Amino acid sequence: MDPEAGLGSLTVNGQVLTFDTQPVTPPELASFYASAGWHVLPPESFRRALSGTYFSLSARAPGGRLVGYGRVVSDGGIHAWIHDLIVLPEFQGRGLGSRLLTGLIERIRNSGIPYIGLFAAKGRAGFYQKFGFAPRPDNGPGMFLYFQPD
Ligand SMILES: CC(C)(COP(=O)(O)OP(=O)(O)OC[C@H]1O[C@@H](n2cnc3c(N)ncnc32)[C@H](O)[C@@H]1OP(=O)(O)O)[C@@H](O)C(=O)NCCC(=O)NCCS
Repeated sequence: MDPEAGLGSLTVNGQVLTFDTQPVTPPELASFYASAGWHVLPPESFRRALSGTYFSLSARAPGGRLVGYGRVVSDGGIHAWIHDLIVLPEFQGRGLGSRLLTGLIERIRNSGIPYIGLFAAKGRAGFYQKFGFAPRPDNGPGMFLYFQPD
């Protein structure tokens, strides 16, 4: 167990949140997708995604409720991708997303991985720009191909 993940604690809404690097469960990740209004994939997709995750950071309220989360997918040497950074709506705007993102970036840097990528959700680019992320140029955009699950 990594009780604090080196991030100390953060008091939000009168609750002392603690951080850890333990994997969340597939239902926890599914409920976080739902909280963000994202498409909830089949349970097996979440199970496989979590087993292939490089590392993650979780923020939990007293009693263990997951209130913030972010994870990294990586080849371990060159590229790391930040995914699924989500703070529950009632805990947003109090610095929790910043604490999680800073922790993810620091751990990637400490691993010696030089490239950190992410896809900003609609309206979130400004949040990431505060931490030094920059959009790719219009003539060299990031691209992806998405297959809607059955
Ligand atoms: C994006 C998200 C993780 C930010 O977490 P948060 O805990 O609300 O963020 P913080 O309180 O740490 O905010 C840090 C700073 O970013 C700013 N910020 C937050 N969201 C922003 C946005 N969408 N655009 C611009 N700035 C933003 C805050 O105002 C704050 O600025 P300050 O330091 O000058 O006060 C959170 O809003 C969230 O979970 N959203 C739903 C899921 C989602 O879209 N995740 C992103 C996937 S790419």
